[in-house]
Amino acid sequence: MKQIQQQLIDDLSKASSMKEVEEIRVRYLGKKGLLTLQWKNADFKSMSPDERKNFGIEFNKTKNLAEAKIREAMEKQQAAGSRSIDVDATLPGTDRRLGCLHPITLIRMELEEIFHGMGFKVLAGNDVEEEFYNFDALNIPADHPARETQDTFWLTNGMLLRTHTSAYQVRAMKKFGTPLRAIFPGRCFRYESVDASHENTFYQLEGLMVDIDISIANLIGVMKTLLGEIFRKEVTVRLRPGFFPFVEPGFELDCQCLICEGRGCPTCKSTGWIELIPCGLVHPKVLEYGSIDSEKYSGFAFGLGLTRLAMMKFGIPEIRLFNSGDIRFYGQFPASGSI
Ligand code: DAH
Repeated sequence: MKQIQQQLIDDLSKASSMKEVEEIRVRYLGKKGLLTLQWKNADFKSMSPDERKNFGIEFNKTKNLAEAKIREAMEKQQAAGSRSIDVDATLPGTDRRLGCLHPITLIRMELEEIFHGMGFKVLAGNDVEEEFYNFDALNIPADHPARETQDTFWLTNGMLLRTHTSAYQVRAMKKFGTPLRAIFPGRCFRYESVDASHENTFYQLEGLMVDIDISIANLIGVMKTLLGEIFRKEVTVRLRPGFFPFVEPGFELDCQCLICEGRGCPTCKSTGWIELIPCGLVHPKVLEYGSIDSEKYSGFAFGLGLTRLAMMKFGIPEIRLFNSGDIRFYGQFPASGSI
């Protein structure tokens, strides 16, 4: 042990780089190191209890000393600026920026939290859907003109890419029954020609609440809470009649323009209002498709344009940026903030 200690100290005194100190560490303390082997190869059986005890004490002393000396030597090398890896200071720097969350993801996460607080489940529908759930079960039969307003990508197997998140309404009713409070955010697809405000791939967030005695008052209450939280201020809303085959009555929920506070500006096209959330009371036929007794239960539904909301909240004038994959665009948005 004494010999090993002396040898180690000699070796360390000659080491002139971190790399050499590291080599010494391995030579003495590594798996097959000199010191390690002393222990592994020790013939404990032939030692008397006293000898065994002394051996243990000496071994530990040497090991502790070796560790301390090596640590000291490493610190010395570090202070002198030596590293275990050779550094070429002339190489160009590496870009260590971390990725970031997509603005749609940010707004979706914020909305999920708000709805969680109101007792809503967060569900996920399917991008690829059956014709039945996307249309028929929503009271849009094959010959209904409403189909024409949603140009559809049909797949060769007869399925389609959902044109709206409403497609999950009846699936959710069948799966979870009543009472039901759920939102289902997701991607939707329409065969649109793309311009600054139209995309073939965009996001919606559908909401559905079904219970006994659900009325328009509940719908307005939830919408006001939602908008107040997103925009961090009390918002004024109004309902206008709107037609959607799967709700009766159906509405367009407008919110007073947050930019001009109703006075009229380019954003609200001088009307003072911004059309934000189509909604309504779930049509009894839709409840029945979802195996819910429409005599006993009622509900409301809404379909919020997530992409449009993100454009409003973050002031993004161009929808094509969302799917551009351009990190310079994605990196600009704070996790939360007000308009
Ligand atoms: N799914 C409709 C669309 O994409 C939006 C919508 C309207 C959803 C009314 C609803 C609703 O839940 O009640 O055009």
